[in-house]
Amino acid sequence: MTERAARRRTGPVLFLILCVLFLSACQTAEGMKAPEESPEVAVPSMAPLPAPEGIRIAVASDLHLDPDHATRSGELSGVSLNPELVEALLWDAKHQGAELILLTGDLVNGGKDYRHEALTERLRKAEAEGLPVCVVPGNHDLAPIGQREFAELYDEFGYAEAYSRDVSSLSYCVLWKDLMILMMDTAGYSAGAIDLPGAPQRSSNCAFFSEETLDWVEKLLKEAGENDRHVLCAGHFNLLPEISRQPENSGYYLENGDRFAALLREYGVPRYLSGHQHTRAVYQENGLTELLTEYLLAYPTGYSMLDLTDGEIRYTPRRVDVDAWAAETGETEPVLLNYARWQQEELHDYARSNVAYMCERNPLSETEVRQAEEFFYTVMDSYWRGDLHARRTELESMPGYEPFFRCAEGYAYGWWLKSLIQNASPLLRGFVLAWK
Ligand SMILES: [Fe+2]
Repeated sequence: MTERAARRRTGPVLFLILCVLFLSACQTAEGMKAPEESPEVAVPSMAPLPAPEGIRIAVASDLHLDPDHATRSGELSGVSLNPELVEALLWDAKHQGAELILLTGDLVNGGKDYRHEALTERLRKAEAEGLPVCVVPGNHDLAPIGQREFAELYDEFGYAEAYSRDVSSLSYCVLWKDLMILMMDTAGYSAGAIDLPGAPQRSSNCAFFSEETLDWVEKLLKEAGENDRHVLCAGHFNLLPEISRQPENSGYYLENGDRFAALLREYGVPRYLSGHQHTRAVYQENGLTELLTEYLLAYPTGYSMLDLTDGEIRYTPRRVDVDAWAAETGETEPVLLNYARWQQEELHDYARSNVAYMCERNPLSETEVRQAEEFFYTVMDSYWRGDLHARRTELESMPGYEPFFRCAEGYAYGWWLKSLIQNASPLLRGFVLAWK
């Protein structure tokens, strides 16, 4: 029996959407154009993208590569298939015309060197096949390894080709054609893994930009303006979501994100790419747009595609075509060869098992259980398909609405689903943003 066969699913699988507890909101569309496609088209899509007109850059986040989980879990799920999904991501990005991929942290699931090596082996192969990679650490990437070891491990994936490196963090800057790309390290202090000689020590374990980092960024932003370069800026932790601004949320709190956001606004580059919350989301505030890219391993195995022309940035949510990757690379595992359909079934299992779990404390009748499961599944599916904003009234009148929230009383799923419904926005289907 192959190792993968040993991981075959043995029952309903929870695929860590719990991580999306701290979720998303889509705010007002300042200076944005909504996509033109019909809402009947599922988004993100696996359909081939048109050839790029400018620079096409893929952005993926929260890969949480963990080959240990792949072998120990005893079941097949997005999480246990993590090595395959990472490979499929890199293949899909290349096949859809990306000329570069940015990985915005939580590259591995716990900062062990052999897990990083499992990733760098795959990234090296992607680069050899023509897809350069730039990484930045998230809170799961440091400790036990320190910052210096991280920079050595990922030397080929951003640090060696950096135009400039910050001496006090793992932030760096690369120049790509007429772009300046700032890869910001937001994670060092939160992970307690500070060992760069230039990094100031501090007692707090909140995510944080040092004064040295802010000075370094400001110089680069000034230089970009003088040289007429467009600027893209990416990091792991978030700037705008409320949860990232409340000190009590220590794992999410970015202590001085407001100062960094102010710099981006001041220098006319008000856009930021992040991850960490495991959900696809768009935030806007005072002219600054923040795009959160989702967790790779959960339904729908999504990432972000950016098309950059001289006038605008076009964001297209993309679903990895795992089926096509599996067929082209000679995979024999049936689940991978039919992944999109299998994932849909997984979503039903996810709804069923979580309703059953909540019913242990807040019981429902048999009919209500089925209605609540259907409601849960429909909200999740609709959210990830990008049509939740158009179905709000329909969802609120589903028979499972009231039973679901009754059984979710005291569980995070209650406020999470309510927020999903309330904050759903067409921007999750993609948008076009002017550079200025
Ligand atoms: Fe994270």
